[in-house]
Amino acid sequence: MKIRNICCIGAGYVGGPTMAVIALKCPGIKVTVVDLNKKRIEAWNGSDVSKIPIFEPGLVDIVAKARNKNLFFSTDVDNAIREAEMIFISVNTPTKTYGSGKGYAADLKYIEGCARQIGKVAKGDKIIVEKSTLPVRTAEAIQNILSNTGNGVDFQILSNPEFLAEGSAVDNLLHPDRVLIGGDDTPKGQEAVQALADIYANWIDREKLLTTNVWSSELSKLTANAFLAQRISSINAMSEICEQTGADITEVARAIGSDSRIGSKFLKASVGFGGSCFQKDILNLVYIARSYGLSEVADYWEQVIIMNNYQRTRFAKNIVKTLYNTVSGKKIAFFGWAFKKDTNDTRESAAIYVADLLLEEQAQITVYDPKVTTEQLYADLDYLNTRSSEENQRLLKVVHDPYEATEAAHAIAVLTEWNEFKEYDYQDIYTKMQKPAFVFDGRNILDGEKLRKIGFCLKQLGKSDFL
Ligand code: UDX
Ligand code: UDX
Repeated sequence: MKIRNICCIGAGYVGGPTMAVIALKCPGIKVTVVDLNKKRIEAWNGSDVSKIPIFEPGLVDIVAKARNKNLFFSTDVDNAIREAEMIFISVNTPTKTYGSGKGYAADLKYIEGCARQIGKVAKGDKIIVEKSTLPVRTAEAIQNILSNTGNGVDFQILSNPEFLAEGSAVDNLLHPDRVLIGGDDTPKGQEAVQALADIYANWIDREKLLTTNVWSSELSKLTANAFLAQRISSINAMSEICEQTGADITEVARAIGSDSRIGSKFLKASVGFGGSCFQKDILNLVYIARSYGLSEVADYWEQVIIMNNYQRTRFAKNIVKTLYNTVSGKKIAFFGWAFKKDTNDTRESAAIYVADLLLEEQAQITVYDPKVTTEQLYADLDYLNTRSSEENQRLLKVVHDPYEATEAAHAIAVLTEWNEFKEYDYQDIYTKMQKPAFVFDGRNILDGEKLRKIGFCLKQLGKSDFL
């Protein structure tokens, strides 16, 4: 089966870049990305392509090449479903904030909504591809809805989880370690798997296309994220031991990372992992384990989250302690708000939680992030509901210049590892700060020797002078 027309529901961080790359690499396929959010679609279609709603290195060029040739963005969901032979579901699946499974389970209402809409509209056979991260066995629910609401046509459900990391999404899509495609072990299921594999084969070696059953594919995504997050929580746990013992976390990470069985990636101590996936997926895994009565398994994975929350809190509390046990009325400059560099995404960013704790201590925070909008920043804080929106605006300011952020500040806290933070004129910054001038490097990216020479009192995670 040769696919000529694809639709993707959800024009977000995953759907947008993934479809742009498919369109670029498969000029013979028409790709339509649809979204309920009219503003988002308008932004994707805007005449100035540099203003597309998602910032990812390399994405603008790809969208500029493919847009309105074979890549389209639209709000007409029904029409796109009708035309497509293959439909990707790439809507968000947030952690439930209500009812049973609250705080753990993935909220699948958008997925169900998509399935119902497809069932209603589709008049011909379709292949449905789960792109969103989903709990294992979600495909069964989608299949069930489709066969009970559909117009008697055939639906094949595939699981094709994305492994792209924000900030390097384009590179991950162009040169993936592997592409995972899960499908039914029936002739029709295998035909659908092949149809999707043929699309990826336009630019990816066949041996990197792994095919599995649907359940293995769904669970592999959760497993990959759980293992990655676990490495960060493990190294962060060791960072505190280093601070107490005089060992140095960077040296320890290098020492263990050169063991080829362990490997060097994902061993950077930090103020805690963020992003839309890690926490959500692990909570989801914990929920699945509990629902099967596997409480030891659930507790084991939950500890990864507990450790992450602890690391954020510990970082914030250390700022208060170091600034003579009070930050009330003191200006603290935040470098970075995004959950990592090279993205404007802030979901679950450690910065939000560190700020919240410091605001509780009545600190005056001034944030500078190269890509995050002021509107987003306040929305993140307001979402926590710790204090009123007016109060958040009064206590926290957003500026567009790092030197303005640090002027007369008592401390700088580095929350995101943006490269530009390493390049500033720290002599100039130091001169204009309160003394002693503290820097809390939550990403261990700054040149310690240089900053100390200037006169800064530098605190880096996992080093004995952090405390
Ligand atoms: C993705 C995956 O879908 C999620 O499962 C994964 O764990 C994280 O990454 P992402 O692309 O980052 O989500 O989410 P987001 O940027 O919020 O995009 C989802 C889009 O779907 C939004 O633009 C939203 O408006 C749209 N949407 C949502 C619909 O068009 N229809 C719906 O019913 C729900
Ligand atoms: C992750 C997975 O990597 C990706 O495969 C999956 O599809 C989606 O979830 P993403 O959330 O975009 O991607 O970013 P990632 O690079 O994995 O970073 C997650 C968080 O961990 C960030 O806050 C990052 O700063 C932090 N991190 C990462 C560390 O604190 N230390 C490290 O060594 C690596």
